[in-house]
Amino acid sequence: MIRILTALQPSGILHIGNLFGAIEPMVRLQAEKSENLLFIVDYHAITVPQDPAQLRRNILFATATYLAVGIDPEKTILFQQSRISEHTELAWILNCLVHMGELERMTQYKDKARGKGESVSVGLFDYPVLMAADILLYDTNIVPVGEDQKQHVELARDLAERFNSRFGETFVIPQPQIRKEGARIMGLDDPEKKMSKSAPSEKNYISLMDDEATVLKKIKSAVTDSGSTISYEQNRPGLANLLTIYSLVTEKSIDQIVAEYEDKGYGDFKIGLAGAVSAYLTPIQEKINGFLKDERSLLAILDQGATRAKTIAAKKMELIREKIGVRL
Ligand code: TYM
Repeated sequence: MIRILTALQPSGILHIGNLFGAIEPMVRLQAEKSENLLFIVDYHAITVPQDPAQLRRNILFATATYLAVGIDPEKTILFQQSRISEHTELAWILNCLVHMGELERMTQYKDKARGKGESVSVGLFDYPVLMAADILLYDTNIVPVGEDQKQHVELARDLAERFNSRFGETFVIPQPQIRKEGARIMGLDDPEKKMSKSAPSEKNYISLMDDEATVLKKIKSAVTDSGSTISYEQNRPGLANLLTIYSLVTEKSIDQIVAEYEDKGYGDFKIGLAGAVSAYLTPIQEKINGFLKDERSLLAILDQGATRAKTIAAKKMELIREKIGVRL
């Protein structure tokens, strides 16, 4: 059976980029005859400093969000990375195969480490190896991710091939799956860079929890260009990004939206987009708040997911230990 897996960091803010890049594709894939795993990478989150109480809240918030957008814990194994110690165990073994140069080339590491000098944590450097372990441990075939994670999935492929050629066939070679539209939602205030929760300004992203007034304010201040007509063109990245978001939240084609705004300007377009975004987010927010009121049920779902994930991970880890010669 095909196995599909993805994971997200539990940061307080999940934005529409995370939703359309990774969570929504996972919701759609639940319809397939595959085994699906979705998890919260809390050990990736601690590669930068975290307040423990806040981290706990963020894990629950992430769980509530996945359920609110349609993840069904019967169809998808939903769990917390830190509950399955095999992830970190395999990461250690892969650490002994990966080259420093490979990790130094990772663009996300270079971006995040910039300006930190020698004080950058080893965890941040090693982050893609833990991600490779996350993927390989479950014999994953397909990894739905946003564009920015493609390089990390490619490293996982390289490490799987290296391990297999050194120790014999052990790991499935995973494929990244990157959707055509929505794999790279750009920052509202800077359409040259991806939307990111760590952007300096809150005007960069639309959080899943933004209320109507905030969404309107952020979209009104989104960077466009000096043109006045609404059209989708590569050399108008701000507008192209807004049209992509419009299309994703309404499920209308970009051509259809362009036609609707044929005789209208940016003002009307932005008001229309803000309304569409809020109409999309409001029911999700209500569901998130509902799930958060019942912490016990969230913990029970994570427990059940951990039990299922552990069964797969423990078996695979036994084989890996055997392959490398430590299992006597
Ligand atoms: P993270 O938590 O930064 O992002 C979660 C997912 O959201 C996607 N994404 C975007 N998609 C479209 N437009 C954007 N602006 C945008 N920003 C983020 C990301 O590509 C990602 O799919 N290392 C990973 C988490 C991880 C993982 C894994 C993923 C750990 N282990 C195993 C897959 C498989 C990360 O930090 O994603």
